[in-house]
Amino acid sequence: MNDLDTSLVGRTCTPDRPLRVAVLASGGGSNLQALLDARGQGPWDVVNVVVNVAGAGAIDRARAAGVSVVVVPHVGLSRAEHEGRVLDVLGAHDVELVVLAGYMRVVTEVFVSRFPQRILNVHPALLPSFPGLHGARQALSHGCRVTGCTVHLVDGGVDTGPILAQAAVPILDDDNEATLQRRIQLQEHKLLPAVVTAWSEGRVVQRGGLTRCCGVVVAAG
Ligand code: GAR
Repeated sequence: MNDLDTSLVGRTCTPDRPLRVAVLASGGGSNLQALLDARGQGPWDVVNVVVNVAGAGAIDRARAAGVSVVVVPHVGLSRAEHEGRVLDVLGAHDVELVVLAGYMRVVTEVFVSRFPQRILNVHPALLPSFPGLHGARQALSHGCRVTGCTVHLVDGGVDTGPILAQAAVPILDDDNEATLQRRIQLQEHKLLPAVVTAWSEGRVVQRGGLTRCCGVVVAAG
């Protein structure tokens, strides 16, 4: 960081007044769990979880941690109706940072405009390679020898927002999609909480037209 940096957090977060984080998830919720387990590492807290798939593992993980969880199924709703309901939940919890942790819905510009530069996503590839679904499968099918994961800001495109942090994962000769995905996720579980901590500590900054996350280094897995 330097004197010309502008922090995105916008206020000083403290243990007494932590950054209020919401997590959106659709599946097993291992990244949610990593965040729940990392509470206390920085001046932030998970104040709310929103899940769009009834029965998803993320629901039980939130409940077990004593964190408010709301299930907002998207089935039968227009995208706008569904997002409206999710935004109502986030608004009721005074959320300051939204983390998409295995949230398998593309969010619209309307959603992003409610949390400008305040939505993170974790993606199982080294963006800008392999956006969209099946990041591990895409890396394998291209014969890559190294892949990884990315935490980036969400900007309304599909995995196109500014990259904040990445971790590399070597691809082994006998890897299949499941083994590779598992090792990518182990890196995600370190990277995502580290970026949330950096955010809460004012280390995600605008610098010369670029967005930078300072001081987050995860060794290759
Ligand atoms: C994670 O690996 C995440 O990177 C991926 O879904 C998985 C969810 O796992 N997200 C995407 O592919 C988004 N394009 P989890 O529910 O165990 O956290």
